[in-house]
Amino acid sequence: MAKPRILVTGGTGYIGSHTAVELISAGYKVVIIDNLSNSNRDSLDGIEKITGVKPDFVEADCTDINALTALFEKYTDIKGIINFAASKAVGESIEKPILYYRNNLNTLMNLLDLMPRFGVKGIVFSSSCTVYGEPDQNPVTEAAPIKKATSPYGNTKQISEEIITDVINSGAPFKSVILRYFNPVGAHPSALIGELPNGVPQNLIPYLTQTAIGIRKELSVFGNDYDTPDGSCIRDFINVVDLAKAHVIAVERMLEDKAEAPIEIFNLGTGIGLSVLELIASFERATGVKVPHKIVGRRPGDIEKVWADPRHANEVLGWKATTPIDDTMRSAWKWQQHLREAGIM
Ligand code: NAD
Ligand code: WQD
Repeated sequence: MAKPRILVTGGTGYIGSHTAVELISAGYKVVIIDNLSNSNRDSLDGIEKITGVKPDFVEADCTDINALTALFEKYTDIKGIINFAASKAVGESIEKPILYYRNNLNTLMNLLDLMPRFGVKGIVFSSSCTVYGEPDQNPVTEAAPIKKATSPYGNTKQISEEIITDVINSGAPFKSVILRYFNPVGAHPSALIGELPNGVPQNLIPYLTQTAIGIRKELSVFGNDYDTPDGSCIRDFINVVDLAKAHVIAVERMLEDKAEAPIEIFNLGTGIGLSVLELIASFERATGVKVPHKIVGRRPGDIEKVWADPRHANEVLGWKATTPIDDTMRSAWKWQQHLREAGIM
């Protein structure tokens, strides 16, 4: 039987483009909506080169309910939504809180509002391990307490989870899967899609690969006096293609009525905590390229250590992150080299 159409909001972005590839490869029809505020149309070509299919694309803003309504009126076969569209820079959210609350929450509320009218059966939501703050223990399970958010960005994820819960509990005729990502890194092995950082990268991997290629002089390691074996912070770095695949399973669960409850929450991580210094070592080992780096002071607001207990997703979704970190680092490097060759940066 032909598979239905999935609306991928934010689908020209980093995780959305990788997920579009996996959805198309699994036989789904895809329509992407994106306002290109943090991505560009090149990812549509990348998706087409990888899959042989150019996804339908609507350039519009998800906070514009009229534009969203027109999209649902045009694509009447949409049965599921994956909502990636959001602003995601933690620092910027502290400077521009209204922008973050407006963009991230109105996008979600517009979608939830329109779903019943257009017969959409489920929505997958991109949440984050940021909801756990500094966890009391690692690895973190989904039952760990939600800590007070330290940024408006993080707060939008907490509020979004609450909005979805309230709407589902009110008897809304659809299901939801909330996915809490740990630290997504790397790129598609083809290097045809990847992460496109805006300005000076705030996140570790884009800064690292830009340093390795010579755009930045050296990588600053924010602190080596944490209570960890080598003193640098520990994260759960998950390969973006592994992450994307979990979304296809989540969509299937909702649309084929396999979900155990109308709302389900899953951690998406590897279960392995890796320190910042270990990650640099992995990159150097995998690529043979040295990364000039120096230890500097701690970055305010950083979590000391957080990594996932992914067993719930492993057991219930039958999904597991399998890509070795060295392969992920090679993919990140290949993507950085692609950006150079394409004259993008
Ligand atoms: P991204 O910025 O690459 O992708 C988001 C996309 O949404 C961009 O293409 C942007 O142009 C688009 N967008 C933003 N607001 C929009 C709007 N109002 N209407 C239409 N399009 C809009 O980010 P990403 O890393 O792919 O993140 C995807 C989702 O996953 C986000 O919700 C993010 O908060 C969440 N997340 C990301 C990470 C991470 O480290 N990358 C971790 C946890 C959660
Ligand atoms: C990782 C580690 C830094 C840059 C952020 C958001 C979180 C989530 C993922 C969306 C930290 C260290 C970094 C550098 C460094 N996003 N680092 N030098 O902070 O784990 O999480 O992105 O939901 O909400 O907060 O990711 O990549 O910024 O940092 O030493 O130049 O690398 O201190 O320990 P983080 P990150």
